[in-house]
Amino acid sequence: MDLSQMDLMEVFPYAIDLVAVLLLALGIKGLSKVSSARSANGLAALALGLAVVGLLVQLQPGSTAWLWIAAGTALGGLAGLITAQRVPMTAMPETVALFNGCGGMASLLVALGVALFQSSEPNLVSRISIVISVFVGAITFSGSIVAMAKLQGWLDTPGWTQSSLRHAVNLALAGLCLVGAIGLPIEPSGWALWLLLAASTLLGIGVTLPIGGADMPVVISLLNSYSGVAAAAAGFVVGSQLLIVAGAMVGAAGLILTQVMCTAMNRSLVSVLFGGALGATSGGGSGASSDAGYTRITSCSAEECAMALEQAERVVFVPGYGLAVAQAQHSLRELSKLLEAHGVEVSYAIHPVAGRMPGHMNVLLAEADVPYEQLLEMDIINPEFPRADVVIVLGANDVVNPDAKTDPTSPLYGMPVLEVDQARQVFVVKRSLGAGYAGIANALFELPQTAMVFGDAKAVLNGLLTELRGMGVGKTPVGSAAKAKT
Ligand code: TAP
Repeated sequence: MDLSQMDLMEVFPYAIDLVAVLLLALGIKGLSKVSSARSANGLAALALGLAVVGLLVQLQPGSTAWLWIAAGTALGGLAGLITAQRVPMTAMPETVALFNGCGGMASLLVALGVALFQSSEPNLVSRISIVISVFVGAITFSGSIVAMAKLQGWLDTPGWTQSSLRHAVNLALAGLCLVGAIGLPIEPSGWALWLLLAASTLLGIGVTLPIGGADMPVVISLLNSYSGVAAAAAGFVVGSQLLIVAGAMVGAAGLILTQVMCTAMNRSLVSVLFGGALGATSGGGSGASSDAGYTRITSCSAEECAMALEQAERVVFVPGYGLAVAQAQHSLRELSKLLEAHGVEVSYAIHPVAGRMPGHMNVLLAEADVPYEQLLEMDIINPEFPRADVVIVLGANDVVNPDAKTDPTSPLYGMPVLEVDQARQVFVVKRSLGAGYAGIANALFELPQTAMVFGDAKAVLNGLLTELRGMGVGKTPVGSAAKAKT
């Protein structure tokens, strides 16, 4: 083998890693748009496949490690395939939590493996990386499993975790982690390793257990970020540039998502992490079921609402948590199709935290085959509300509350909201005057252009379909229907 051939052989694994990192970066970028998300996922999967190839080409001739790598890849791939096919869209948050936990555990095991079985003495960078990998990996693993169990309804929030006792317990655990972290670089495979592992695992449980179900999406994206940090640290432990870069990207992306969600919910990360389950429920509302002293409520029937829709040229639907509770996405899609056949321009206003998980409304509406281009983000749709003839709010509450813009005393003050109050005619579909997640009254309900249509979202939408069909809507060709309205 001449020199140039040798160089090529040495460079080859790095070239594969570089291509994998680029593909992964492109994949993460593509995930930011619904329309490119599916292909972006494919790119990221290809990147990880290449990463495995990169590992295989680095093996010494005669090494049997390829057997382990192949078996691990096959098993992991199969588990991923089965999960992707079996898990319903509604169980996505739990699944993401579980996968984060697996990521944390993988990094933890890599660090443990090196600490316990590497024959040569690890250098200082490696020792510090082992500390970070074990600490963050263990917190990610146990925290994610608790988050998954809570979302799945297997675990309740114990009463004592809502008292200041939990802060004392978590502080004590953090202190033990510190002792382990200081001791571990001195003696990498001794007592300090096991102390750090046990205390970090318990700390992950202690920090996640008190958090309410409705705040779980924020915690999950934070844990996702931690899994990236743990992977990057594991990259330092085993000297893998690919793992370092990929981990850093996941860590940063998770942190940005956490920040975006906190801003959109008008909550600080500190209040989510240390505020416990206060004010947060995972049910259909906050339980504040009183009528909150409303005095100027106008209500109307599905028939009146249908008449307004029949006359409209531009209709905006605002989906919220109640739409998901009612599982009314297919009825909504049917209604949209009927209106479009009648020449109505239909769009959907998507608030970043409508519902109870990031992208909740996008996922829900995608399931009912709503075209991506009709889903308009808050910044795009807000200037359009004054042009809308009819806005129908479906099981949304906090995300359309105008007090967020005008009332400095409101807990929602400062939260960016959908400016539905700017529309000419608004119908709010919900079962009662009960509050939403924030547990407060909504000034939108009392505006002169607002009418409440009380009922379950699916039942009301089906009622609207019946009324509109009864009026002959959708029977006339699009062109003539639009002309008849002008
Ligand atoms: P909410 O403010 O929670 O309001 C949902 C409304 O849906 C309730 O007022 C409820 O009123 C109604 N509803 C429940 N079941 C219904 C049904 N079957 N049919 C019709 N209506 C029904 O929801 P939103 O406007 O989507 O706002 C989301 C809130 O959750 C925000 O405060 C956000 O900060 C918070 N949050 C979001 C996330 C993410 S990441 N999306 C995570 C955590 C918290 P009735 O009981 O009167 O029907």
